[in-house]
Amino acid sequence: MNFIHPKIQEYSDRISAQEPELLQALNQETHLKVLYPRMLSGHWQGRFLSFFSKMLTPQHVLEIGAYTGYSCLCMAEGLSKNGNIITIEKNPELRAMFEKYISEAGLEDKITLLNGDASAIIPELKETFDLVFLDADKDNYLHYYEMVLPKVRSGGVILADNVLWSGKVTEEAKPNDKETIAIKQFNEFVAHDERVECLLLPVRDGLLWIVKK
Ligand SMILES: C[S@@+](CC[C@H](N)C(=O)[O-])C[C@H]1O[C@@H](n2cnc3c(N)ncnc32)[C@H](O)[C@@H]1O
Repeated sequence: MNFIHPKIQEYSDRISAQEPELLQALNQETHLKVLYPRMLSGHWQGRFLSFFSKMLTPQHVLEIGAYTGYSCLCMAEGLSKNGNIITIEKNPELRAMFEKYISEAGLEDKITLLNGDASAIIPELKETFDLVFLDADKDNYLHYYEMVLPKVRSGGVILADNVLWSGKVTEEAKPNDKETIAIKQFNEFVAHDERVECLLLPVRDGLLWIVKK
C-alpha cells in the first residue's frame, strides 16, 4: 500500500529522477510474467535506494529477498569502485530473469545471487556490510536482523521494507495474522535496541532506516 495520495505520488514521480530504461523494462517484464509483481520496489522507491546507495558508496551490500533484481540494480548504482552485492532469493525460478537484467547492465562481476533460504545462507557470509536491504519473508525479519547486525559495520545501515504493512501495524493484530504480529514485534524491538538508532520513513509501505552505532 502507498499512504501518499495518488496525485501527490504521481507528481513526486514526475519531478523525481526518471526510472532508467533498463529498470522500466524489468518492471514491465516482471508485471507481465511473474507472480505478485507489486513486490517489486518500483520507480520512486528504486530511485530512493539508488540515491541512498550513492550517498553511502558501499563496498559490501547484502540484500535479503532479490525477487527479479529491481532493488539490487538500484543499489548497484551507488557501489564504490570495487564494491559488490550479495543478494539472497529462495525461489530458483526467478534466476533467469534476474541474470538477464544483471547481464544487460554489465554487472555480472559485481552482483552474486545466492539461491536458498536466507536463514541458512546468512550465517555463512564472511563480509562486513555497509548496507543491508531487508525485503524477504516478513515473519522472519527479527531473526534476519539478529543474524545480520553483527555483520554490519559501525555506521552501516539496514533498510527494512514494508514495516507499515498496509497500516496494519497501527491496529491490534488478529491472532492468526503471523506477518502483522512479526512486523510489529520487529519494529518495537529495533526501536528499543540500544545497538542502533532508527527512523521510520512513512513512504510507500514504510521503510525502517536502521543505523548501527
Ligand atoms: C518483496 S520480494 C523482494 C523484492 C525486491 N527486493 C525488489 O524490491 O524488487 C521478497 C522476495 O523474498 C523472497 N523470499 C521469501 N522468503 C525467503 C527466504 N526465506 N529466503 C530467501 N528469500 C526469500 C521471495 O521469494 C521474494 O522473491
